[in-house]
Amino acid sequence: MRILIIGAHGTLGQAAVAALKDRHEIITAGRSLGDVAVDLLDRRSITDMYKKAGALDAVVTCTGHAYFGPLAGMTEDQFMIGLKDKLMGQVNIVLIGQSLINDRGSFTLTSGVLDRDPIRKGANASAVNGALNAFAMSAAVELERGIRINVVSPTVLQASAKKYEGFFPGHVPVSSERVGFAYVKSVEGAITGQVIALD
Ligand SMILES: NC(=O)c1ccc[n+]([C@@H]2O[C@H](COP(=O)([O-])OP(=O)(O)OC[C@H]3O[C@@H](n4cnc5c(N)ncnc54)[C@H](OP(=O)(O)O)[C@@H]3O)[C@@H](O)[C@H]2O)c1
Repeated sequence: MRILIIGAHGTLGQAAVAALKDRHEIITAGRSLGDVAVDLLDRRSITDMYKKAGALDAVVTCTGHAYFGPLAGMTEDQFMIGLKDKLMGQVNIVLIGQSLINDRGSFTLTSGVLDRDPIRKGANASAVNGALNAFAMSAAVELERGIRINVVSPTVLQASAKKYEGFFPGHVPVSSERVGFAYVKSVEGAITGQVIALD
């Protein structure tokens, strides 16, 4: 398959690339690194990316920022950070790419454990992750030409444990290898509309 991995040089992106690269042709994309440059906050940049990437059998997104901070005092502007970046960045990949991806192609988005297991300061990320999961569930019943869509929703990765130290008390970090298997399951498997949770 020809697979476009967006955010390929990030922590999750590297896990996806490592798991898929031996069996497939991988095209990497990212804001600063990758075969194709893209900024998911800019719809024109997404359209240009699809033009440059050419025919695709699968698109995997491993990107997205949300706002982390206490609910008390959280503003609409802060809440919009996650909606515009992590949610709409990935949703636009599907909205724009649905007519461009090959027949029986697939989209794999990334949400995260806060869709089911809240932490303090995580309301924005929880809302965004839940929205991504619900979007995929619903998009799956409408996507045409046999196109599938799933979401990978991991807890903290071992590789990111230090970065998020103190934020996820009691969570058992998962390995990049296990997360890689989740992307493989979505891309190479038959499921659609599913959230692949890794706790
Ligand atoms: N790490 C974890 O433990 C973990 C666990 C569960 C869920 N997640 C979720 O997984 C996603 C990726 O996390 P990560 O830890 O892998 O992040 P990361 O290491 O910071 O990597 C993010 C990647 O996405 C690219 N990117 C960011 N914004 C972009 C944009 N607007 N347009 C195009 N590319 C963009 C970055 O490229 P540049 O550096 O060039 O901007 C980078 O390659 C996030 O949504 C995160 O919430 C992460």
